[in-house]
Amino acid sequence: MKLLIKSGRIVDPISGTVTLSDLLVENGKVALIERGLETEADQVINAKGLVVCPGLVDMHVHLRDPGLTYKEDIHTGALAAARGGVTSMACMANTLPVLDTPEQITYVKEKAAAGCGVHVYPIGAVSVGLKGKELTDAEALKKAGAVALSDDGNNIDDANLMRDALLKASRQGMPILAHCEDTHMVAGRAVNEGSVSRQLWLEGRPAIAEELVVMRDAMLAEETHTAVHVCHISTARAVDIVRKMKKKGVQITCETCPQYFTLTEDEILTKGPMARVNPPLRTEKDVKGIIAGLKDGTIDAIATDHAPHALEEKQRSLPRAMSGMVGLETSLAITLTQLYHTGKMELPDIIRRMTANPAAILHLQKGRLSLGSDADITIFDPDEEWVIDPEKFASKGRNTPFAGRTVKGKVKYTIVGGKVIYQDEQ
Ligand code: DOR
Ligand code: ZN
Ligand code: ZN
Repeated sequence: MKLLIKSGRIVDPISGTVTLSDLLVENGKVALIERGLETEADQVINAKGLVVCPGLVDMHVHLRDPGLTYKEDIHTGALAAARGGVTSMACMANTLPVLDTPEQITYVKEKAAAGCGVHVYPIGAVSVGLKGKELTDAEALKKAGAVALSDDGNNIDDANLMRDALLKASRQGMPILAHCEDTHMVAGRAVNEGSVSRQLWLEGRPAIAEELVVMRDAMLAEETHTAVHVCHISTARAVDIVRKMKKKGVQITCETCPQYFTLTEDEILTKGPMARVNPPLRTEKDVKGIIAGLKDGTIDAIATDHAPHALEEKQRSLPRAMSGMVGLETSLAITLTQLYHTGKMELPDIIRRMTANPAAILHLQKGRLSLGSDADITIFDPDEEWVIDPEKFASKGRNTPFAGRTVKGKVKYTIVGGKVIYQDEQ
């Protein structure tokens, strides 16, 4: 089986280059990258004017399967990923039951294998039932196929448990992905602590609730010589902490999400619960700090924290609404609109944070586009404008504050192992 991609702008996130070239896929692998390839192929894609890059790797999604499949399931999540140009994703453990046993990890892997082809990498829980009391069996979870451990959704309040968890995960070669927000400082609170929470007479989730735990986890990683990864970093000062700790040689990495470099807490005033997310949308100063962190490499990865909910769970008063927003189908477009079309970042630097970097953090052989690598490929038009319409999503989740927004950058083809699994209708 041969697939020929003609005349694309090939972005290699490793070398940081953009080359106008053809690309030949043979038996699921990248076989040739050369200009003017005149070879027979079973399928030819004309990629003139389009960007050809490694399939996107989203290291943080919620697929809600098992148990919460009215919000999403592994198959609809994978279809949403394909539409968003995501060919590999890691899914969080806060399902029902929690992914805290090898059986649950196996369930996710088997169901994903029967899907559209998007690679799904389960993340095991750090603590049994995400309760923060007793550690799961890291070795058994790893053997079953977990690529990392996380209690995402919950902070790990017990520093002693976190220290043990870091040591046990590192013995298995897995990072811990930490949702950093001190529970006591945020419990029952829906929005950032600041001008918006004051206007609405609500108690807020303070920035320092995140920053304290980022500092604590960085220090624990330093002391134990283990790897910690901060999920969805959202404040300028948290980025500063990671920057300083990286300089000291601490094995700390972090991700942010499009909402944190695009929106501020003001969004709550117009979008209400649709803009509710944990950690919350912050301030203009934080947005600037996040972009600075992305530019200088302090922030390693852009993930979505794709968090589908039923409409009914969002259409409540702010304190009662569920937190989170979907992201798989809009992440690349929002990122290009916000960082590339504004001239803030170059294409290869953006793509690296959506491919090679997250793959490296999870030790996946993905996110590259060189001879011999897996032919997981995303082809997009960087200049096509479209309007975000949640009704068109493949995800069961329609919860996004970006509905109605015009964005620039559209996924045209998503390819896994040399097979086209999604093609834009036009
Ligand atoms: O807003 C959020 N929603 N933040 C999280 O950490 C969890 C997620 C969810 O599972 O809905
Ligand atoms: Zn989280
Ligand atoms: Zn999450």
